[in-house]
Amino acid sequence: MASPLLCLAAAAALAAALLASTPEAWRPAATPPPLPVLPIPSAPQLKWQRREVIMFFHFGMNTFTDSEWGTGAEDPSLFRPAALDAAQWVGAARAAGASLAILVAKHHDGFCLWPSAYTDHSVRASPWRAGRGDVVREFVRAARAGGVDAGLYLSPWDRHDARYGKEVAYNEYYEAQLHELLTGYGSVSEIWFDGAKGKNATNMTYHFQEWFQTVKQLQRSINIFSDDGPDVRWVGDEKGFAGTTCWSTVNRSMITIGEAGIEKYLNEGDPRGRDWVPPECDVSIRPGWFWHKNETAKPLSQLLEIYYNSVGRNCVLLLNAPPNSTGLVEDADVARLREFGSAVATIFGTNLAAGSAARGSSERGGGFAARNVLDGRDDTYWAPAAEDGRRNGYWIELRRPPGSAGRPFNVVRIQEHVALGQRVERHAVYVDGAPVANGTTVGHKRLHRLPCAVAGGTVRIWIAARRGPPLLSAVGLHHDPFVEADSS
Ligand SMILES: *[C@@H]1O[C@H](CO)[C@@H](O)[C@H](O)[C@H]1NC(C)=O
Ligand SMILES: *[C@@H]1O[C@H](CO)[C@@H](O)[C@H](O)[C@H]1NC(C)=O
Ligand SMILES: *[C@@H]1O[C@H](CO)[C@@H](O)[C@H](O)[C@H]1NC(C)=O
Ligand SMILES: *[C@@H]1O[C@H](CO)[C@@H](O)[C@H](O)[C@H]1NC(C)=O
Ligand SMILES: *[C@@H]1O[C@H](CO)[C@@H](O)[C@H](O)[C@H]1NC(C)=O
Ligand SMILES: *[C@@H]1O[C@H](CO)[C@@H](O)[C@H](O)[C@H]1NC(C)=O
Repeated sequence: MASPLLCLAAAAALAAALLASTPEAWRPAATPPPLPVLPIPSAPQLKWQRREVIMFFHFGMNTFTDSEWGTGAEDPSLFRPAALDAAQWVGAARAAGASLAILVAKHHDGFCLWPSAYTDHSVRASPWRAGRGDVVREFVRAARAGGVDAGLYLSPWDRHDARYGKEVAYNEYYEAQLHELLTGYGSVSEIWFDGAKGKNATNMTYHFQEWFQTVKQLQRSINIFSDDGPDVRWVGDEKGFAGTTCWSTVNRSMITIGEAGIEKYLNEGDPRGRDWVPPECDVSIRPGWFWHKNETAKPLSQLLEIYYNSVGRNCVLLLNAPPNSTGLVEDADVARLREFGSAVATIFGTNLAAGSAARGSSERGGGFAARNVLDGRDDTYWAPAAEDGRRNGYWIELRRPPGSAGRPFNVVRIQEHVALGQRVERHAVYVDGAPVANGTTVGHKRLHRLPCAVAGGTVRIWIAARRGPPLLSAVGLHHDPFVEADSS
């Protein structure tokens, strides 16, 4: 056995040798990051926000009955997709640039796309795959194989189940189904609690607090969506547009799930909100959420408009593409999603500010230089000096290199380092001294589409921030060729 004394001596010698050979040991100590401004996002919320575009798949009994809200009286034998291929759906999601896809596992009609042990009203009673199929299983497998994370939607409102309206019995049924979905299919990244309910529906109390805690017990890194969060909130409309002012913060106590009249609060958030609950913009590429033979996908220009007004206003865009009654996303819809994904990649693939000299109204020093806004990383940012007292006068300036000053741009992108809280309250953009755009909040991402392309050598962004100095992780100047094509 080695003597402990000898071991200690050897360790000390090794440490001394390491110190002597490591020049870092004599560098000045690093400047710590600035203090966070509460509330701040959890790690899963931050990961979710950076996804920017995610997909929704509405598929189920309604696909076969040409409806949006089924009655619950549908015969399971109607559910018979001839060539369901979840890998094709996942391919469509990837083409749109989505890293997460959410499947409607049960809609308001109560028909379950997985063989739930707690009801007869499911794929098990259908002729599809001779009653041995499981759409949820096929979907999560395809998602995993395609490198896309999976999410699930389980409608609280159930028009089929006889327990609906009996508070304890129905909540037990719902909890049991949550267990099935969150323990049987591997990791689930988001769960969707829809507040929708018919005006004539039986009055009953959903045990949301129990459901939320069950979800977190079963899936630690999941994000729970509802009007009220707790992790992700509804944006208040189904157009895919957030407010021009959009805070990730709200007071959850102000929100009752499914209650009308809170749309504006959800749309804009609350600058004084105590809870970090960022908004998600759900919208379908077609008029309906479910597939209807008579409908087609929105044009690219409209999808880009939605992108600018959702992702470009501090939201995640949840884009729905409905598989048809064959069990496939229509080729024309897949093509539109691909067009959309590649348009976004084209517009934002080149930063026309690259190579600029960056300067801030002041600098904190250390690793927080103004040039960080151009390095393409989310985890580095510009921070002004802590003692910069000009609370209404922060600015950052980009001097474009000679030559590139002539390359026109018509989109300005500004991003806050929201990991330390959302701070920007107002901002304005100047090109060679002339104002070109302005607005209120920035958040994770703010996009300004300029009415026409501008060229210029110097771009200055002026910022007013609430509660502490602004922290910017990115500034981009981009050229969107699609708007111009539109207006010609
Ligand atoms: C709701 O109930 C009213 C009164 O019974 C009825 O007239 C109406 O058609 C119902 N609406 C729906 C959507 O079922
Ligand atoms: C539903 O029940 C709640 C709680 O019992 C009650 O406050 C509410 O008025 C009821 N709503 C309707 C439409 O009956
Ligand atoms: C949200 O809560 C904060 C802190 O309690 C409060 O200052 C603010 O006024 C609340 N917002 C609203 C809209 O009531
Ligand atoms: C397509 O048909 C459905 C069901 O028949 C109907 O509800 C919907 O309004 C129609 N859509 C359009 C765009 O006409
Ligand atoms: C569903 O979409 C696929 C792919 O475009 C197509 O081959 C099939 O005919 C469609 N089914 C129906 C019922 O329209
Ligand atoms: C902000 O932009 C609007 C148009 O979007 C313009 O009317 C206004 O003058 C601008 N304000 C400033 C301070 O630049």
